[in-house]
Amino acid sequence: MGELERTIAIVGAGRLGTALAAALGTARPHGRGADARGADVVLLCVPDAEIARAAAALAPGALVGHCSGATGLCALVPHEAFSLHPLMTVAPGASPGVFTGAGCAVAGSTPRALAEATALADRLGMRPTTVTDEDRAAYHAAASMASNFLVTLQAAAERVAGTAGVKRELLAPLVRATVDNWASLGAIDALTGPIVRGDSETVERHRVALGERTPDLLPLYDELARATRALVAR
Ligand SMILES: NC(=O)c1ccc[n+]([C@@H]2O[C@H](COP(=O)([O-])OP(=O)(O)OC[C@H]3O[C@@H](n4cnc5c(N)ncnc54)[C@H](OP(=O)(O)O)[C@@H]3O)[C@@H](O)[C@H]2O)c1
Repeated sequence: MGELERTIAIVGAGRLGTALAAALGTARPHGRGADARGADVVLLCVPDAEIARAAAALAPGALVGHCSGATGLCALVPHEAFSLHPLMTVAPGASPGVFTGAGCAVAGSTPRALAEATALADRLGMRPTTVTDEDRAAYHAAASMASNFLVTLQAAAERVAGTAGVKRELLAPLVRATVDNWASLGAIDALTGPIVRGDSETVERHRVALGERTPDLLPLYDELARATRALVAR
């Protein structure tokens, strides 16, 4: 059966399930307790801790995949299993094109299951790469640092900028240019600012200002300054 002839069901109507249903042109995602009977392929888009429960509710016979970055395939036993983790951040209301060009970690418990994961990634315009079960936690830690922690860092910067009357929309072009430079030049050449210049007095003035205005952010600043000095010294 060709990839486009397969019936695909999605379980989990959250951020990723809704976006995947739109991008793949499937029916609306199922909710809790769904058995997805009659589907050839079932994609679970549920929190990691719910994968085994959602898999246990499914009718037997389908190829079953999850979309978790950190979880191995054993959570899907006894189904013929695959995983498909878009290396992309999918926020509420994401467009169906959000997956185009993204990386995608794939795995399969059989060659047929791996081929299904790869075909789905291709259909979504992603770039599939196999990641084994033992590498999943490190792979997903990298994804969390690259995406989630970047948001946490920008939220901290936004707070400090706010104390000087500068809004998020003025920080955004700086963040985008920084990420573009890192992507095209690599970390060392992308780095600008007082630490790489050796302007230690400026760094000390930053610390004083943070201590006065947002003292809870000082430990974060100091740890990142330490990591930045280590990067410069490499
Ligand atoms: N969002 C992303 O950027 C992203 C990117 C890559 C991979 N992923 C992966 O996608 C999966 C889902 O993430 P998400 O961000 O879409 O989460 P989410 O927005 O929190 O959505 C999870 C959905 O699953 C439903 N659900 C929970 N337990 C269920 C069960 N037992 N059976 C059926 N539905 C159930 C929830 O419904 P209730 O309201 O009933 O709880 C909710 O609609 C995770 O494995 C995550 O690692 C997400």
